[in-house]
Amino acid sequence: MLSKRSLVGVRLNFHTLAVLFFLLIGTQAFAADPAVSDSDEAVAAGKSLFNANCKTCHKLDQKAIGPALRGITERRSIDWAKRFIKNSQAVIASGDEYAVALYAEYNNTNMPAHEFLSDGDLDNLLSYIEYGDKVDPAAQAAAGAVGADGEVAAGGGVPSEYLTIIVVVLVIVLLLILIVLGLIISVLTKYIDKQDLDEDDKEFVSQKFNFGKVLKSDGFIIIVTALVVALVAKTAIDGLYSVGVQQGYAPTQPIAYSHALHAGQLEIACQYCHTGVEIGKSANIPSPNICMNCHTHVQNVQGKEGISPEIQKIYDAVDNNKPIEWVRVHNLPDLAYFNHSQHVKVGGIECQTCHGPIEEMEVVYQHSSLTMGWCIDCHRQTEIASAGNEYYDKLVQLHSDSKDALKVKDIGGLECAKCHY
Ligand code: HEC
Ligand code: HEC
Ligand code: HEC
Ligand code: HEC
Ligand code: HEC
Ligand code: HEC
Repeated sequence: MLSKRSLVGVRLNFHTLAVLFFLLIGTQAFAADPAVSDSDEAVAAGKSLFNANCKTCHKLDQKAIGPALRGITERRSIDWAKRFIKNSQAVIASGDEYAVALYAEYNNTNMPAHEFLSDGDLDNLLSYIEYGDKVDPAAQAAAGAVGADGEVAAGGGVPSEYLTIIVVVLVIVLLLILIVLGLIISVLTKYIDKQDLDEDDKEFVSQKFNFGKVLKSDGFIIIVTALVVALVAKTAIDGLYSVGVQQGYAPTQPIAYSHALHAGQLEIACQYCHTGVEIGKSANIPSPNICMNCHTHVQNVQGKEGISPEIQKIYDAVDNNKPIEWVRVHNLPDLAYFNHSQHVKVGGIECQTCHGPIEEMEVVYQHSSLTMGWCIDCHRQTEIASAGNEYYDKLVQLHSDSKDALKVKDIGGLECAKCHY
């Protein structure tokens, strides 16, 4: 015969479970806890280690001599990654299946050992690998569709998809447990009903478990409300910040032209192709003729046979006298006026200040927000490059009684009409 206490036990468990269940959903939904630190210092420290030791063979989002590294702590454990970086040969020799297969896939290329790296160094390296130089996820998704062989975004959105699947499965399992427990209770209650019980016990048994009561309980309502409010707030904030802002935009281009190759590796000057930056408002996108200066001779990538299909597209454009239809990345609305030569030639600002590390991009993406606030912030903070510019001599003199250096804001950089037609 079942005692009162064990019944209370069941009921308690059921209650606790219901609460735990919702707590778990809560923690899971917000469990963005990174496995490796994403602090700026760790990423910066990792970047210099990476550039010194790994860059010759690895890129974060693209296959090079070794695999694309981002996402390694999701593919493998952190511990595994550390052991592999320290001494990959030891891991391969230990018969680790994944390592052996990877080694074979990369034609038995030996990755050098890095025993000299401390555990802290390795943590920083992994921080950089997972969080460094990250393209906006939207851009990565877009870039993924483009990348020369579609590898750019390997590691991008996948983990969060996994997280969602895990959460959904957990919720289903917990729901099933709840249902089973409910069934057990109702069976047990029926069984007890048939026994001879004294008044006390009868009353206790007949106060059935009331699911409605749990739903109405304060604890439950508070948890659910908090979850809903947090979710709505997060969605709303994310949404508001991105209205009309195309930061990270990385459209597919008609030819897989790479700045990382041409501006980075081959070190062709930006001005060679973007002929307008120092002389006019617009930077200009090069015509196919400029490409042909080299590509009449360069028909393929080193080590590959036959004409590259991507370079063939340049020939087609020239032969048919048709422009290449590059997709515009940066685009201010018509109401705003921006002039390149004013910033590059007169202001002496580097392209990268506004466009980011173009010389590392396989596919160009919009690095800055290009909002009015972005223009204004810089005009508030940036000093005029007045040295050697006669035009500014008088202004600087007039300004010399002020303690602050002459900033763009002081020459009218905040006036509406300067930027708006
Ligand atoms: C000389 C080229 C070379 C250098 C330098 C190099 N690696 Fe590697 N790495 C490889 C190759 C090749 C592989 C593929 C496995 C193999 O062949 O051993 C690899 C594999 C890896 C893997 C496993 C990747 C995966 O997808 O499972 C990690 C992690 C890794 N390297 C990290 C690093 C780090 C961090 C550094 C710098 C401290 C570094 N590597 C330096 C060539 C290199
Ligand atoms: C060999 C020619 C060439 C060189 C050198 C070159 N670019 Fe480009 N650039 C292009 C072409 C072609 C496009 C259009 C296709 C694209 O967006 O990838 C482009 C696009 C761009 C864009 C995006 C334009 C838009 O649509 O908004 C920026 C920004 C840019 N380049 C900056 C640079 C900078 C900075 C450098 C120097 C570090 C540089 N480029 C060097 C050919 C070149
Ligand atoms: C100053 C010389 C030079 C100019 C100008 C130049 N390229 Fe290249 N480009 C090269 C070289 C060299 C390679 C091959 C690099 C290699 O062997 O890996 C190359 C490779 C390429 C590739 C890679 C082909 C493949 O199969 O992966 C494409 C695509 C390309 N260029 C497009 C362009 C376009 C489009 C322009 C004009 C906007 C342009 N290039 C202007 C020198 C140039
Ligand atoms: C002060 C910020 C700033 C600097 C510095 C800058 N750009 Fe731009 N760039 C922009 C903005 C803003 C646009 C969008 C312009 C528009 O839509 O009218 C743009 C657009 C472009 C475009 C697209 C075509 C065009 O002219 O609109 C190219 C190509 C480009 N920039 C290349 C360069 C190169 C190369 C340099 C360095 C020599 C450079 N930019 C320096 C802000 C900058
Ligand atoms: C990285 C800093 C930076 C950013 C970002 C920037 N500017 Fe500027 N801007 C400057 C500097 C520096 C000058 C002064 C150049 C000179 O000496 O004439 C300047 C000058 C100007 C001027 C001329 C002002 C005058 O009184 O002569 C205009 C117009 C202008 N910027 C528009 C824009 C617009 C529009 C944007 C955003 C799309 C923008 N700028 C973003 C740095 C910046
Ligand atoms: C340094 C350049 C600069 C100055 C100064 C400036 N703006 Fe703007 N403004 C911009 C740019 C760039 C945009 C486009 C931003 C975008 O597309 O998000 C813009 C957008 C706007 C818009 C349209 C907003 C929208 O949602 O499309 C208004 C309205 C506006 N500015 C008003 C003003 C007024 C009023 C002033 C003077 C108090 C002013 N601006 C001064 C650069 C400037």
